[in-house]
Amino acid sequence: MHYSRLSLPLVALLALPSLALPHDKPPDKRADNHQGMVDRERADAVKAAFVHAWTGYKKYAFPHDELHPVSNSFSDSRNGWGASAIDAFSTACVMQIPDIVNTILDYIPTIDFDHTTEQVSLFETTIRYMAGMLSGYDFLKGPLSNLAENATAVDEVLKQVQRLADNLAYAFDTPTGIPSNNLNFPNTTDGSTTNGLAQIGSLVLEWTHLSDLTGDQKYAKLSQKGESYLLAPQPSSSEPWPGLVGTNVDLSTGLFQDAFGGWVGGDDSFYEYLIKMYVYDSAKYSSYKDRWILAADSTIAHLASHPSTRPDVTFVAEFNGQELIFQSEHLACFDGGSFLLGGLALNEQKYIDFGLALVNGCHDTYVSTETGIGPEVFQWVENTTSSTDPNNPPAPANQEAFYEKSGFYITDSDYILRPEYLESVYYAYRATGNQMYRDWSWDAFLAINNTCAVGSGYAELTDVNASGGGGFNDFMDSFFFAEVLKYAYLTQAPVSAS
Ligand SMILES: *[C@@H]1O[C@H](CO)[C@@H](O)[C@H](O)[C@H]1NC(C)=O
Ligand SMILES: *[C@@H]1O[C@H](CO)[C@@H](O)[C@H](O)[C@H]1NC(C)=O
Ligand SMILES: *[C@@H]1O[C@H](CO)[C@@H](O)[C@H](O)[C@H]1NC(C)=O
Ligand SMILES: *[C@@H]1O[C@H](CO)[C@@H](O)[C@H](O)[C@H]1NC(C)=O
Ligand SMILES: *[C@@H]1O[C@H](CO)[C@@H](O)[C@H](O)[C@H]1NC(C)=O
Repeated sequence: MHYSRLSLPLVALLALPSLALPHDKPPDKRADNHQGMVDRERADAVKAAFVHAWTGYKKYAFPHDELHPVSNSFSDSRNGWGASAIDAFSTACVMQIPDIVNTILDYIPTIDFDHTTEQVSLFETTIRYMAGMLSGYDFLKGPLSNLAENATAVDEVLKQVQRLADNLAYAFDTPTGIPSNNLNFPNTTDGSTTNGLAQIGSLVLEWTHLSDLTGDQKYAKLSQKGESYLLAPQPSSSEPWPGLVGTNVDLSTGLFQDAFGGWVGGDDSFYEYLIKMYVYDSAKYSSYKDRWILAADSTIAHLASHPSTRPDVTFVAEFNGQELIFQSEHLACFDGGSFLLGGLALNEQKYIDFGLALVNGCHDTYVSTETGIGPEVFQWVENTTSSTDPNNPPAPANQEAFYEKSGFYITDSDYILRPEYLESVYYAYRATGNQMYRDWSWDAFLAINNTCAVGSGYAELTDVNASGGGGFNDFMDSFFFAEVLKYAYLTQAPVSAS
């Protein structure tokens, strides 16, 4: 299973000086700063792509969940509450586009979060709707309050998050307090007896922030109770190395059911949220940081892997117990950013160095393909593991030459407008100030902008290694607004010196 992740409550992260909000002033003329002009032009080009995607969505899909850009139609895969509008909210704030900000701001108070005919995913609803509204709310109450035309509507945004959380809260009504993920409003679940690591472990930031904003501690308590089973995992066999844990957890006993995991979909954002909770409030959540450090150190020691043909490339393997599986995916490309954030927050160079190595690995998956965009899933071969090990198969014959050169072979060639590479390159730039990362981000943006643009927006590709991307899947997911364009923009936008 692959889960998408929203990246942040952004404002919390902006507390780190190295990740400060960009300013909108022209570059400093006194310095005759040519690079500054280039950066501003690039930032403006990303902004233009955002406006293009928004204009198509607004015309053909708003307030539905997503645009089908080829057929100029829409779908409601996220309960029909306007997922793309909500995911565009904080990006429109960051880019400082008042028209779009106020269109979304006017819309949010009108959403009927009490009703839906489809099943509700607690995880997806938290990371898209709650996070999207909370991030926009933070900006419009804080550093970007000048953008909002209607202060009453801003207050309504927080009320809508609370209303949604109140409707979701029964998910936590299980024997352990570990939430069920799949909800049928108003009060039943799909009956699953387990939930997954990422789905349980990617709620605490939003739910805790909601408590901090409203003064009602129940949201923080609910999410942290579920999380507590992940921070003290049982049985010990489900933690093959310190900090690295399995995936499925029993809702009645709180016991992990397996020892299969990694930094991949289904597990990924559990690790991401550990360090973000620490950045959010380092006094209160230092135990989360301790768990992130364990996982990070174990990853460097046990999961780091170099493809046989490219010793210079670093990927992170998946695991089943202490057996490694030499496979990774686009979703996992957030891992470089997580190490870089940890390195910045903890002032630990070893995490920054490893994070940059991981960014370099994902860069390799981008620049090796025909389109300049990385594939959904890929594998590689390890020298240090036997070639007869079923987890270490050779590259298929028709990809041998490609593997020789690139250090990976493609097992799923889609690109569904995922953000994780651009996300990590953003951290790489902010951690180092090295222009090379800005150029990497720009190259990826151009590849996406050129290959995915179709009809009234941007669409998924069926084959990143075919010219033109192999064909389109007529769908523009909401995270294209929340993440792809936000990170591409933030990487180019001038950063305030203060
Ligand atoms: C401001 O927002 C509130 C809450 O959504 C709404 O009731 C009111 O009509 C808005 N005011 C204007 C002038 O649009
Ligand atoms: C669940 O909601 C339905 C519809 O509102 C209601 O009839 C039923 O009594 C509720 N059940 C429980 C256990 O709250
Ligand atoms: C794998 O083995 C080959 C042949 O011995 C060697 O050239 C290559 O550097 C090795 N790769 C790694 C990652 O050690
Ligand atoms: C991005 O794509 C749009 C739509 O195809 C195009 O108009 C624009 O020129 C592209 N931007 C860059 C910088 O290539
Ligand atoms: C990718 O495309 C190139 C150029 O067409 C080709 O040489 C290579 O074999 C392809 N790789 C894969 C993994 O299909």
